Amino acid sequence: MSDQLIIFDTTLRDGEQSPGASMTKDEKLRIARQLERLKVDVIEAGFAASSNGDFDCVQAIANTIKDSTVCSLARANDRDISRAAEALKDANRARIHTFIATSPLHMEKKLRMSPEQVLEQAKQSVRFARNLCGDIEFSPEDGYRSEVDFLCRVLEAVIAEGATTINIPDTVGYAVPELYGEFIKTLRERIPNSDKAIWSVHCHNDLGMAVANSLAGVKIGGARQVECTINGLGERAGNCSLEEVVMAVKTRRDYFGLDVAIDTSQIVPASRMVSQTTGFVVQPNKAVVGANAFAHASGIHQDGVLKARDTYEIMRAEDVGWSANKIVLGKLSGRNAFKQRLQELGIEMESESDINHAFARFKELADRKSEIFDEDIIALCSDESRASEKEKFQLVSLSQRSETGERPHASVVFTSNGKELTGEAEGNGPVDASLKAIESHVNSGAEMQLYLVNAISGSTESQGEVTVRLQHGGRIVNGVGADPDIVVASAKAYLSALNKLHAQDDRVAAQG
Ligand code: KIV
Ligand code: ZN
Repeated sequence: MSDQLIIFDTTLRDGEQSPGASMTKDEKLRIARQLERLKVDVIEAGFAASSNGDFDCVQAIANTIKDSTVCSLARANDRDISRAAEALKDANRARIHTFIATSPLHMEKKLRMSPEQVLEQAKQSVRFARNLCGDIEFSPEDGYRSEVDFLCRVLEAVIAEGATTINIPDTVGYAVPELYGEFIKTLRERIPNSDKAIWSVHCHNDLGMAVANSLAGVKIGGARQVECTINGLGERAGNCSLEEVVMAVKTRRDYFGLDVAIDTSQIVPASRMVSQTTGFVVQPNKAVVGANAFAHASGIHQDGVLKARDTYEIMRAEDVGWSANKIVLGKLSGRNAFKQRLQELGIEMESESDINHAFARFKELADRKSEIFDEDIIALCSDESRASEKEKFQLVSLSQRSETGERPHASVVFTSNGKELTGEAEGNGPVDASLKAIESHVNSGAEMQLYLVNAISGSTESQGEVTVRLQHGGRIVNGVGADPDIVVASAKAYLSALNKLHAQDDRVAAQG
């Protein structure tokens, strides 16, 4: 058995299924480039058949990424598989990932199909896919809650049809480590042609065990691919977190005996990019990528670390990319330095005029903030890409008045399809007044589910990054905005969420 562990990242597909985490094409491309720098083996770029927007994203990523395999999800039917193949046709290395549910509950209640029908459809789909692509992954959805005998029949049949990877999802996060590991071991032992495929684990985190389950699938079950997302992003409690699995395997090589191709110094930049793009903030005590992951507050620990680092540290902060948190540019930095930093961060602008525009914004920011960090540049360019996509609503200016004992008042100027509007309102605070001023024209009817402010680089000089989650008509979107003035950042985030509500195309849900 190989001692290489394949890292399959599904941030852009399963991660994006998280309510409010939907990303634009530019944002997905930027993250895909970062995943390539991180050296993930496979990037699941989306679900091409779910909407025209998803198709375009998968195609754009397939045409851009050279080093990682690019994968599209497809339900087990000819149309989905053909769309996936079409979107991937110019990829350097392509994979089609097809799936159908195999648990009694899903087959009866969701698919309304008999087990024999499911078996037949799985076989036919893999046969069809194999004629379009040499690299085929098959997933029995809700695999962990499926009956072992039936699952063995399905998996043996799809391997015979040419599936090259077999992935066992714990779709609802029900597994516990030992049992999940044993489950995979049993499947591999009982299926006669199991050695013809690579076995993969795909765990959800509903009971907080996605990483532990995945590692048990590797150690006990012999899986050699882990499906995971940056920051554990994903529906409900999320997916298995890439950074935790990778650092567990690397740090405990003595136990796992496996290698991963990941460039770990790109982990923190990837984590920041995903959190800034989606507005899903990383909890401070999150392993590896949380702000406190390497902070030693207690005197005893500090003393120990100063005397000998490994008294309390099992990994080095710089090995996972924490050293990237340094001042990179300032007021005196020129256009070339700015352009080069964009390249290093994997941010591609379409034209020189886009770069000029972003550079002008950078100069404005540098006038207000002496130290500019990578996070500032990423936030600035995210704002830029949102604005450059000819969004319906764009902020022009904002002024607000607040004084102790007075009710705050705001006046917000913004454009709606190019037409300038001015909204005035009072509110409980300046942020409330500003959002009410916008609503005085928009009347969106949206319900706010979340309002969050985060200091991008720690100090009071930092830009405030605001996330706003809105719900309307069954859709949930996140808007993100950044500015040294948190009231302005809030207005940007609110308008960005309104733009997403307005623009989002209708998708077919992967597991619907
Ligand atoms: O969790 C799941 O079952 C999935 C499959 C589509 C692989 O994401
Ligand atoms: Zn999943």
